[in-house]
Amino acid sequence: MASEQGPHSRILGTGGYAPERVLTNRDLEKLVDTSDEWITERTGIKQRHVARPDETASDMALVAARRALEIARLDAADLDMIIVATISGDVPMPACAAYLQRKLGAGPVPSFDVSAACAGFLYAMSIADQFIRGGSHKRILIVGVELLSRLIDWQDRTTCVLFGDGAGAAVMGPATGDGRGIITTQLYTDAALAESLCIPAGGSREQITAESLNAKRDKVQMVGKDIFKAAVKNMSQASRAALDAAGMSADSVRWVVPHQANLRIISQIAERLDIALERFVINIERYGNTSSASIPIALDEAFRDGRIKPGDTVLMCALGAGISWGSALVRM
Ligand code: UT7
Repeated sequence: MASEQGPHSRILGTGGYAPERVLTNRDLEKLVDTSDEWITERTGIKQRHVARPDETASDMALVAARRALEIARLDAADLDMIIVATISGDVPMPACAAYLQRKLGAGPVPSFDVSAACAGFLYAMSIADQFIRGGSHKRILIVGVELLSRLIDWQDRTTCVLFGDGAGAAVMGPATGDGRGIITTQLYTDAALAESLCIPAGGSREQITAESLNAKRDKVQMVGKDIFKAAVKNMSQASRAALDAAGMSADSVRWVVPHQANLRIISQIAERLDIALERFVINIERYGNTSSASIPIALDEAFRDGRIKPGDTVLMCALGAGISWGSALVRM
């Protein structure tokens, strides 16, 4: 909820990164029984980026983080917290944020991962906002990074055409009283659909065995239709909740930066919110679904190409595995 004093934290800089290698729909036609026409029509995706074999999630996060620090005119040594939203970190333990801290050369500051899948970046933003609001921390790096190409069954056409690798980052710091900053964040989880989007094996419930590897239970499984419906409904609801909490109407939103999972989901949200699709930042055609990285990559692109200007009100919304979803209303 926006307080009487206005925003407490703001975004000081953003950065994005996608691996060089591009996999087009035509390339995928050679791997699975699919077509450029089907993928384009059903999802809006034309290509996605895929990491090099030697590249890790923290490597990708590092590039995005350095770019965000550069815009914020800060050094890694200025950071007092690092939060990485990811479900595809370098290793199960320790956190991707720990590797990122080391690679950045940041001080011994708290560095931890947040697991909220595609909604992860909004969770990280909300957590950072609370720490800055509370006054204990001033400069917080938040990153959304996913290397989903390693967690995909490349023979499963119902998932392998959807996802891509990438990283996006933002440096957050105290608001300066000019009205710019995080106005409100709204977060939700409802595990009724937990099994509709998950990686069944590899955790404490089901260890990886020869059988589970054979059955590809260490890879992403999704009941697409269930998640599609939940995404339209809940991302719209969370967006409305953010506007209500701020006492703002949809008209005051200059740009919507939605999670990029499916162009049809985005179009239906635009209809429900009664916000023209032209006011949505959309780049799904070039990146596919990069999960927690999709919002910060889109935000960064729109900022760098001048679409989003300082002072613009931006609405963000996302939904992913959990299912977890949320929204953020930010004056940039
Ligand atoms: O980021 C986390 C959140 N994730 C999402 O929000 C994703 C949400 N879900 C979706 O975006 C959509 O459900 C999908 C894009 C995954 C699937 O689209 P759909 O319109 O729900 O298609 P469907 O699953 O109902 O499949 C329709 C047909 C099926 O054939 P039949 O049974 O009608 O003969 C599928 O087998 O399309 C077939 N199909 C494909 N055909 C060509 C499924 N995948 C493919 C494919 N290429 N890659």
